Amino acid sequence: MEYKTPSEKNPIDQLKVVGKPIARIDGHLKVTGRATYAYEWHDPKVPYAYGYPIGAGIAKGEISSIDTARAKKAPGVITIVTALETGELKKGKFNTATLFGGRKIEHYHQAIAVVVAETFEQARAAAGLVEVKYREEKGAFNLKVEIARAFKPEISRDPTDSSFGDFSSGISNSEVTLDETYTTPDHTQAMMEPHATLAMWHEDELTLWTSSQMIDWWRTDLATTLSIDKEKIHMMSPFIGGGFGSKLYLRADAVLAALGAKAAGRPVKVTLPRPFIMNNTTHRPATVQRIRIGAERSGKISAIGHESWSGNLPGGNLEAAVTQTRLLYAGDNRMTSMRIATLDLPEGNDMRAPGEAPGLMALEIAIDEIAEKLGVDPVDFRVMNDTKVDPEKPERAFSHRDLVGCLRLGAERFGWQSRMKPGTRREGDLLIGMGVAAAIRNNLLIPSGARVRLNKDGVVTVETDMTDIGTGSYTIIAQTAAEMMGLTMDKVEVNLGDSRFPISSGSGGQFGATCSTSGVYAACVKLRDAIARKVGVDPNEAVFENGKVSDGKKSVTLANAAGPEGLVGEDTLQWGGLDKTYQQSTFGAHFVEVGVDIATGETHVRRMVAVCAAGRILNPITARSQVLGGMTMGVGGALSEELAVDDRRGFFVNHDLGGYEVAVHADIPHQEVIFLDEVDPIASPIKSKGVGELGICGVAAAVANAIYNATGVRVRDYPITLDKLIGKLPAMT
Ligand code: MOS
Repeated sequence: MEYKTPSEKNPIDQLKVVGKPIARIDGHLKVTGRATYAYEWHDPKVPYAYGYPIGAGIAKGEISSIDTARAKKAPGVITIVTALETGELKKGKFNTATLFGGRKIEHYHQAIAVVVAETFEQARAAAGLVEVKYREEKGAFNLKVEIARAFKPEISRDPTDSSFGDFSSGISNSEVTLDETYTTPDHTQAMMEPHATLAMWHEDELTLWTSSQMIDWWRTDLATTLSIDKEKIHMMSPFIGGGFGSKLYLRADAVLAALGAKAAGRPVKVTLPRPFIMNNTTHRPATVQRIRIGAERSGKISAIGHESWSGNLPGGNLEAAVTQTRLLYAGDNRMTSMRIATLDLPEGNDMRAPGEAPGLMALEIAIDEIAEKLGVDPVDFRVMNDTKVDPEKPERAFSHRDLVGCLRLGAERFGWQSRMKPGTRREGDLLIGMGVAAAIRNNLLIPSGARVRLNKDGVVTVETDMTDIGTGSYTIIAQTAAEMMGLTMDKVEVNLGDSRFPISSGSGGQFGATCSTSGVYAACVKLRDAIARKVGVDPNEAVFENGKVSDGKKSVTLANAAGPEGLVGEDTLQWGGLDKTYQQSTFGAHFVEVGVDIATGETHVRRMVAVCAAGRILNPITARSQVLGGMTMGVGGALSEELAVDDRRGFFVNHDLGGYEVAVHADIPHQEVIFLDEVDPIASPIKSKGVGELGICGVAAAVANAIYNATGVRVRDYPITLDKLIGKLPAMT
């Protein structure tokens, strides 16, 4: 099905199942430990071996030798595969950094060997006996220094520059101006489940149980790297313990497990140890962002400019931190630009809301600052500068945009009117403040396929290689199929994460929910058609409800319609260009109250309210969980998350969950999520958009603005740790 015109009324609009707060259908498997994650696949009859990875101890240079003699004699060791023995392997199209193979070291903890042994502990012990010698080269690790040599990349996912009107005269003619620089540090995805793969060969066919957000991307790249036919790889990833972008692209665990299993002649399990993940995999790159805003006294933005610098390995992506500034506010004179510096740190790549999340960390402080200079309430300022069209391409309207509704409702529900002047509200040792920020995250569209089977018992089974990374895919896909086929949830089964199923959107970029359910919708349209034709009712008149198909005259149960052979519908939803005609984005507003300890500078988040406008909400339970998780992650970004760079040796120092501090439940006493009741018929046949990444967008700035309101101290350098406040706080009287 090609989606070319906005959706009219369709069976999803019945909302008998879709839109209902249905608990996760895989929930019981998870809470009883029966959802099998990659490393847990276990058959007592299979003689698994265990691989332990070795990572490079330098950031840049070459391996001169790897001596495995002692390690090979260690107890339990079966084989050791080294990067020198395999030589250079072909790179897939999605990875910038080399995952494995060859002499060249591009970053610290690049995988250079895997030790395979009878047990995990034996493999780990033997890995410590492998001796590696290097020829080390000098690398570049300090973003702020390397910015001097930043350049415009030849290839960029997002345009590097944009301009509209005349920014320079716009800014110089503005009555009130702001010109500030903000910095965001490197972040790691810190998902709960480490990367893990079980690999098994049957002659030249490879089976993998892995933890992947995108089955088809992984399979394609693994086939390239191993130089085997993609059709020879069977990949499964039915349960995934979080990804946040870290599992979008093929990772070393899959390559090492496949090579280890080949060499050992046995199935091999490899997990990346936690202290290996931060430097071996990808991270959200640090940014330096300069924002200039000019406004009229009345509060109208007359000029807005946003420049961002980030670093990456040669050929890596830039962090697209200015993209939201191209869309969020009106203003006649505009410029944005992004430049990249070469760094020899691990590969920078996608992490939850890549681009918008770090971009809004800066932009939404700047908006707070200019509003204050103008003496305009920051909620009112955002409302005054709302736009209904793409401000840089005014001929493009938003498919649906209700940022104003989010701000107004949020302000009311949060109690915004009781906000006081900076540094004036005190409760005991706490300085209390409130902050607001807007959220925007674009709605990305990826083709998505599914197969639906109706069997003789009237049960519909959905098959798609879509993944559920903890987001609720199983549940919303079942809801979609149940709605389309006129069934209750117990008559629908969902099988995901298997490369034998039709290729889906996968999970990423908050596109998973809308795209995968749209694919299931398309497949169900085919199945409905097949059923109608089989029982002899007009497909256009057929009504599917209560497990039956009818046309007013005739009514047949789906079980009977299926017959002993059953019926199948399969299709792929192709996006027909409505994202070109319209700008498709999701919107939100975040309100945060903090208390900052006047003595220690420690910030406590006291309560948060988020209002989201993201099209139809397919399931308020799973959608709410996504936003809560995003809000919590945003608090981490505001207050604690930072990969500390050792800029002499070139690696992230705090590479475990003890040193890299994420926010958790206990850090946030009260969170409220409100969804505006809306549909977006332009966005998808389901009339939904994404929501999984909107929840993090803007949160950190709302916290930063609340800290400013509490203390009168403006911090423009994340994370806002107590050392950046202490000494500047009001006197303890
Ligand atoms: Mo998301 S960063 O595309 O998993």
